[in-house]
Amino acid sequence: MVQRTAVVTGTSSGLGLLTATRLAALGWEVVGTVRRPVEGLPFDTVVMDVTDDDAVTALGETVSQRWGRLDALVNNAGYGLGGPVEELTADELRRQLDVNTVAPLMLARACLPALRAAGGAIVQVSSVSGYSASALFSAYNASKFALEGASEALRDEVVPQGVRVVLVEPGPFRTEIAGKSPQAAARGSTGLYAEGWREIDEWLQWHATASTEPDECVDAIVRAVTDPAVPFRIPVGAGIAQVLRDRAADLTQQADAAEAYLAGQGPALDA
Ligand SMILES: NC(=O)c1ccc[n+]([C@@H]2O[C@H](COP(=O)([O-])OP(=O)(O)OC[C@H]3O[C@@H](n4cnc5c(N)ncnc54)[C@H](OP(=O)(O)O)[C@@H]3O)[C@@H](O)[C@H]2O)c1
Repeated sequence: MVQRTAVVTGTSSGLGLLTATRLAALGWEVVGTVRRPVEGLPFDTVVMDVTDDDAVTALGETVSQRWGRLDALVNNAGYGLGGPVEELTADELRRQLDVNTVAPLMLARACLPALRAAGGAIVQVSSVSGYSASALFSAYNASKFALEGASEALRDEVVPQGVRVVLVEPGPFRTEIAGKSPQAAARGSTGLYAEGWREIDEWLQWHATASTEPDECVDAIVRAVTDPAVPFRIPVGAGIAQVLRDRAADLTQQADAAEAYLAGQGPALDA
């Protein structure tokens, strides 16, 4: 039997750690990425930041040399920056997009030769925030909306080459993301978003202590890796498929409103 192989990014905690551990238990050879060495994991690790272009290229080469093929790339590493647009810096916004959007695409680029050789899968750990926006999370929304659009394009590019692309879109699951994700350094500087910040604090507290255990989400990611019949988009978590349906209905309504408006309901443009 062919030895199955996977690269999982962000395996120091949360969904990445659980997914890599589960795949290893299923007999897969797994390389996980970590930013600092972690002892005692049941899979191999490489120490790298996913935004380090040279490290990403080297990882792709290592995979090709070591295995010659890759069954799955799980782009999981990520975080959620909190803060209203008015209190975010360009560097904070760029870093969020770099980690959550650019890095998964560069990892796909580096791993595609090996993925083609195996007829493998690229599993993008996106989010319900990839189609449903929340105030004070514009940076995270931007990163995940963009990941979703790019993944649709990537799917159309690589499916003809025998490589699958799957978007897993979790709702809130208890991991370390609430504690590890930064907030705008200029938090509160405008004095205009106190209520929003209070809601974020409450939500992060709830997320870290009372949100759902991550097993259901890890099941979905592992299915996306192992089952070629899995759908392209997998919203996962209580009520999350409905959020996707509501988004579709909202977009339909917006299209109807725009069509009606442009068909003559707006004011004439000539004075
Ligand atoms: N948990 C949820 O409710 C939820 C919901 C929707 C989507 N997601 C998505 O699920 C993915 C995993 O998050 P999680 O909930 O499991 O959170 P987590 O426990 O905080 O794990 C995030 C992982 O990503 C790694 N990481 C962050 N920035 C990195 C970088 N620049 N380079 C390399 N690794 C980096 C972290 O490493 P360090 O330990 O070095 O920071 C950690 O291993 C993320 O993409 C997140 O957006 C989570």
